[in-house]
Amino acid sequence: MRRLEGRIAVVTGAASGIGLATSRRFAAEGATVVTVDLTDTADIATEIGGDAVIADIADEAAVADLYAGVKSRHGRVDVAFHNAGISPPDDDSILETGIDAWERVLRVNTTSVYLGCKYALPIMLEQGRGSIINTASFVALMGAATSQIAYTASKGGVLAMSRELGVQFARQGVRVNALCPGPVATPLLMELFAKDPERAARRLVHVPVGRFAQPEEIAAAVAFLASDDASFITASQFVVDGGITGAYVTPL
Ligand SMILES: NC(=O)c1ccc[n+]([C@@H]2O[C@H](COP(=O)([O-])OP(=O)(O)OC[C@H]3O[C@@H](n4cnc5c(N)ncnc54)[C@H](O)[C@@H]3O)[C@@H](O)[C@H]2O)c1
Repeated sequence: MRRLEGRIAVVTGAASGIGLATSRRFAAEGATVVTVDLTDTADIATEIGGDAVIADIADEAAVADLYAGVKSRHGRVDVAFHNAGISPPDDDSILETGIDAWERVLRVNTTSVYLGCKYALPIMLEQGRGSIINTASFVALMGAATSQIAYTASKGGVLAMSRELGVQFARQGVRVNALCPGPVATPLLMELFAKDPERAARRLVHVPVGRFAQPEEIAAAVAFLASDDASFITASQFVVDGGITGAYVTPL
């Protein structure tokens, strides 16, 4: 499908995982993709015919420059996928998690989404059209006894902020949705669970589909939200979780 033909799309966290798969999917749908990450994504941009920007999305000046640059190079911003995020090991139970980890996670996961929306929205409002997708998580919707307290709080913030922006700008042609993925089989997660199968089993038992998602399955949902196929979808918590949030008892 070429649902994003001629569209300009910004993807943060494009070097890896969901952001990388989505950059490829957006390009396959016809978009020109601006790949953004702390690390250089020039190779990916070359592969998909896009444009790479190295930026720290937790830094206001960098985000302002990013969107000013996209506007001056491409003339518009049709899609903004604010997806970069961190989940560091020093973010754990509230009893152990220090203020440094708390503030770092909130800054990278939540403040960055505030900044991305703050600088993408004026461009989209001027166009009278745009789609913003902010990556939250299923942990914004349900509690885990295996806590990462700052991460969970940060994703709750993304969810509430996205809903409010979706409502505020609904009549001006801009849609804002929060994406809530379930656990995705990223290399990091798989390595962790390969070392500790009991840890993996504890989580897998709650997934009705019985496996973790592939990044491409999340990318397919993002491409839908970015496209006009989702023209009546805004302010949503768009859940792509293999049934986790709907389950009480899962199949054996
Ligand atoms: N993997 C999962 O199971 C899962 C589940 C639900 C939600 N999520 C969320 O999805 C998003 C992507 O996750 P992923 O698994 O693809 O992660 P990943 O670690 O594979 O990729 C994240 C990318 O973000 C970049 N990044 C981190 N901090 C940045 C910063 N300050 N500025 C610019 N780039 C920065 C990293 O360099 C990396 O390339 C995150 O927001 C994550 O919280 C992931």
